[in-house]
Amino acid sequence: MEEKPTPTRKRLNYENKLILAPMVRIGTLPMRLLALDYGADIVYTEELVDRKLLRSIRRENDVLGTIDYIDNTDGTVAFRTCPRERDNVVLQIGTSDPARAAQVARMVEKDVAGIDVNMGCPKNFSIVGGMGAALLSKPQQASSILRELIETVSIPVTCKIRVLPDLKETLQLCDTLTSTGIEAIAVHGRTINEGPQHSNRNHVLKQISERLPIPMIANGGSKDIQNHSDILRFKKETGSSSVMVARAAEWNCSVFRKEGPLPMDDVIKSYLKYAVDCDNPPSNTKYCVQNILRELQDSILGKKFLNAQTLEQICELWELGDYCRSKMKEFQDKGLLGRFQVSPDMLDEDTKDDCISQKRKIHEEEDVAMMRFAFLRSNYTRDEELPKTRLLKWTKDQHKKMPVYDTRRNEKLFCSIVTVDGRKYGSSFWEKNKKWAEQGAALVCLYFLEIIDEKSLTTSGNVLSR
Ligand SMILES: Cc1cc2nc3c(=O)[nH]c(=O)nc-3n(C[C@H](O)[C@H](O)[C@H](O)COP(=O)(O)O)c2cc1C
Repeated sequence: MEEKPTPTRKRLNYENKLILAPMVRIGTLPMRLLALDYGADIVYTEELVDRKLLRSIRRENDVLGTIDYIDNTDGTVAFRTCPRERDNVVLQIGTSDPARAAQVARMVEKDVAGIDVNMGCPKNFSIVGGMGAALLSKPQQASSILRELIETVSIPVTCKIRVLPDLKETLQLCDTLTSTGIEAIAVHGRTINEGPQHSNRNHVLKQISERLPIPMIANGGSKDIQNHSDILRFKKETGSSSVMVARAAEWNCSVFRKEGPLPMDDVIKSYLKYAVDCDNPPSNTKYCVQNILRELQDSILGKKFLNAQTLEQICELWELGDYCRSKMKEFQDKGLLGRFQVSPDMLDEDTKDDCISQKRKIHEEEDVAMMRFAFLRSNYTRDEELPKTRLLKWTKDQHKKMPVYDTRRNEKLFCSIVTVDGRKYGSSFWEKNKKWAEQGAALVCLYFLEIIDEKSLTTSGNVLSR
């Protein structure tokens, strides 16, 4: 067989770049693509914790044209990327361990342009796990992680830190981290105890950039950034090589445009198109749009938006309902399966046999009406909408006995069968917890009892396959 030539890659350069900062839940694929359209040169992913990536499976998604890293415990997409951003996307990891960090980097190396280590997150879960800002007080551990990464992969390695209260210690930390061989360092000019209300220490950033032999990426300037020239002013003031923008881009991603930012509705429309194209989860899409709308959530449109639950309902509000429907139909016709792509039989060899035999056992029960539905918690904003609650109400209204759930567990996964009016119903999708498995079974029951229809399930993303 003829050997395929390896595609040549541009090595990421951190001089004079406009960068979309890592932002949890905001920096997913649709926002990254939008930022590139508007003029960002480099886009960071949200922080992805090493352990989560390590339990994911890489899948090329032919329908969407994306590469998906799917969490093998619940089938959700941990990281989705695509060839369009391959030379511009930096994956930020949350880690406390050189070996785990290197394993993640090896896994994603061919799909991303660079690897960054989060050394600035002050959240409790990061600190307790020795990740994020915990590494600021452990420069040796931080350096070991960076060295291991540099030795393991050929793509550039960087880190993102916060300044320390003391200037001398900040400079020392930067020297230590730089000596590992990292390509660049991003610095947020606030300490771990400071929030957005505190001013960014631009003068400290200036001293760091004057001292370091590698590019320093200035961060923390969003309060004073509304357009491209504000970004340039921040760059000049901090003497930095490049600027990384978080909140200003979260609020209006077109802040990167040289020609000036676009009106909010234009940005939302373009974002929604990408959300549809990437089959982005409705909950994440809603969160990102909410952060663009901000105080406008109190407007009439904003209130309608807050009631919307599906991608189609959100799109409808910006006249993209037809676009959303036609794309969803196209994806379904091409066989997009969503969470269906992961089931217990993809788990480790040890658990695999057991799971498959249990799965068969469920199917063998001939009197069970089975469907393959996932329970997506984010689709339900009010408790009374939950499948179990609706089913219980139905049995009460019809003077039937209360539903009885028989839930089986296999390793970390659960599957449930519900008995209602002498008939059994179950979902063949194994859920991550008992509650969700029962909700899945209730959903199947509601479907068979014709209390909900297939259309509402399909648009909400609950249906996996027959
Ligand atoms: C919603 C949100 C999520 C964030 N998530 C991350 C993250 O995953 N990793 C990270 O290093 N910093 C994260 N940050 C911090 C930003 O990257 C940035 O350092 C901070 O907001 C200051 O920059 P700005 O003034 O441009 O907003 C987050 C900030 C926001 C507002």
